[in-house]
Amino acid sequence: MNYRVPRTRKEIFETLIKGLQRLEYRGYDSAGVAIDGNNNEAKERHIQLVKKRGNVKALDEELYKQDSMDLKVEFETHFGIAHTRWATHGVPNAVNSHPQRSDKGNEFVVIHNGIITNYKDLRKFLESKGYEFESETDTETIAKLIKYVFDNRETEDITFSTLVERVIQQLEGAFALVFKSIHYPGEAVATRRGSPLLIGVRSKYKLSTEQIPVLYRTRNIENVKNICKTRMKRLDSSTCLHAVGDKAVEFFFASDASAIIEHTNRVIFLEDDDIAAVADGKLSIHRVKRSASDDPSRAIQTLQMELQQIMKGNFSAFMQKEIFEQPESVFNTMRGRVNFETNTVLLGGLKDHLKEIRRCRRLIVIGCGTSYHAAVATRQVLEELTELPVMVELASDFLDRNTPVFRDDVCFFISQSGETADTLLALRYCKDRRALTVGVTNTVGSSISRETDCGVHINAGPEIGVASTKAYTSQFISLVMFGLMMSEDRISLQNRRREIIHGLRSLPELIKEVLSLDEKIHDLALELYTQRSLLVMGRGYNYATCLEGALKIKEITYMHSEGILAGELKHGPLALIDKQMPVIMVIMKDPCFAKCQNALQQVTARQGRPIILCSKDDTESSKFAYKTIELPHTVDCLQGILSVIPLQLLSFHLAVLRGYNVDFPRNLAKSVTVE
Ligand code: G6P
Repeated sequence: MNYRVPRTRKEIFETLIKGLQRLEYRGYDSAGVAIDGNNNEAKERHIQLVKKRGNVKALDEELYKQDSMDLKVEFETHFGIAHTRWATHGVPNAVNSHPQRSDKGNEFVVIHNGIITNYKDLRKFLESKGYEFESETDTETIAKLIKYVFDNRETEDITFSTLVERVIQQLEGAFALVFKSIHYPGEAVATRRGSPLLIGVRSKYKLSTEQIPVLYRTRNIENVKNICKTRMKRLDSSTCLHAVGDKAVEFFFASDASAIIEHTNRVIFLEDDDIAAVADGKLSIHRVKRSASDDPSRAIQTLQMELQQIMKGNFSAFMQKEIFEQPESVFNTMRGRVNFETNTVLLGGLKDHLKEIRRCRRLIVIGCGTSYHAAVATRQVLEELTELPVMVELASDFLDRNTPVFRDDVCFFISQSGETADTLLALRYCKDRRALTVGVTNTVGSSISRETDCGVHINAGPEIGVASTKAYTSQFISLVMFGLMMSEDRISLQNRRREIIHGLRSLPELIKEVLSLDEKIHDLALELYTQRSLLVMGRGYNYATCLEGALKIKEITYMHSEGILAGELKHGPLALIDKQMPVIMVIMKDPCFAKCQNALQQVTARQGRPIILCSKDDTESSKFAYKTIELPHTVDCLQGILSVIPLQLLSFHLAVLRGYNVDFPRNLAKSVTVE
């Protein structure tokens, strides 16, 4: 939204479309925008909606086909909204895509991330009041509901934010919403509950404040009316944010910082139930209930993210770029935390809670997808270094079971995005039971990082490819660092700690060595890409490697792939083995080596032709291999960081050879903010 910053319609389109393109990685099936149909001088405002099934490029092309829109017309104040949709309710098509509208006159339009769980009841109610629905979405009920509240307002001068406040009191589920209306030209209102939302602020001029105080309203309607008339209408500089002296300022609302980082790195993260409103170039935040954190203000934070970090550079896909970034991302995770001279580790976000963690009854490590695999990968070393029982849990299953959690438990929530709905719900579940909660995320300001008692940022840099790669290796290292920090005082563990810290130091170099195998892995992909299935088998420290490798393969190549625990081979998977079935075996020189050799014998005895990922110096396994990929050796508990990389590369090459879009796999989204 621009205020006193003249922008042509073309520039407005470009800002919106670029923002959407930066978010495309989160999954999409259709997209849409709403902008002003005429400029500020016009008496009769109207909102123009353009929506299209398909990707953002299709929407972009559609915009320029709209010959009713003059691209050169200038706006001094303008608020446009745009959205990419990943269908939850209703098939992907133009009608179901967002913005959704209140009526054919587009009086109110809204974009929405999340799910409204009580939308059927709301829809029934609104239909009984004569509102006609055109889409199958839950979001349309929100657009109709705000019009209903507006049509039934008790005073003429009701503010836009009051309408939104009343709407969200009726909503159940998760949402991040941004509203636009012809009744409030040049104004914007946004709110969230459960789904992320942030506001970027750009101004050449000094800003009036660095902390926006939150205005609390009471539920009492009379008071609301009074506050509307006084505080909300005549916001002074102590209650809102604007450029000093009423100068030019632009506000950007987005679900993710990558959409706005090219405009500004100054952002405000909204809390659940915050209602943010911009009117007359002033941003104010109010809420009905006190916030969970009870923070009376929202600070403007400066993000470190660079635009370049979210660009593909010379790589053909973000996933490929991110795989190749691992020598640096892994280094960044350790930077300033591991002291290789003194063999100590300091995680600033945990140090104040260390005593409490050391006293706990058990650690529960919770996540989804790749993040869960990082928990599986480090479970053994955490058990060893912390000497505590460690449970690893898939967030959805953990919730389904109503798992008993106690106040002397410490619960870790692993999440790249920090926004995954199941993980976030598991976090709230554990908080309710008063356990200490620890976030391990890659996203500063994300819900999980804000709602946990303490945590670790993995500092891997923005990850765009839907299939997670560099976040996995950085999560892995973060959890190992935690184990090292916990064991600092354990005399019996000092040799082991030194060995691991030494291993961490050489990881970036060893990762480079693994990445140099890319061509060889490409050749392997050439042999495999027409297959329907691919099994990945291993055990011990590398069981997680198999789960994660198989997940990468199924996510982006659509081949059937299973990660198999070699210890379970005789209990079923062996039946799958024959001459044809491609099997990858991960066999490393670690305490499971002999057992893996057994599994190898069993596979070859059934005419299996295994492709073996093994240590460079392993002459034994290679004798039985159809092919080998030889990896540098590191400490057993860190080997999984090296052994997963060939599988990341393999899945990438397989997907390219099969002709699929690596970064945007069908039916999947980067950040799953719905249950
Ligand atoms: C989705 C993504 C995966 C990711 C998982 C958990 O399924 O496609 O790449 O591992 O969510 O996401 P999180 O952000 O919580 O790590």
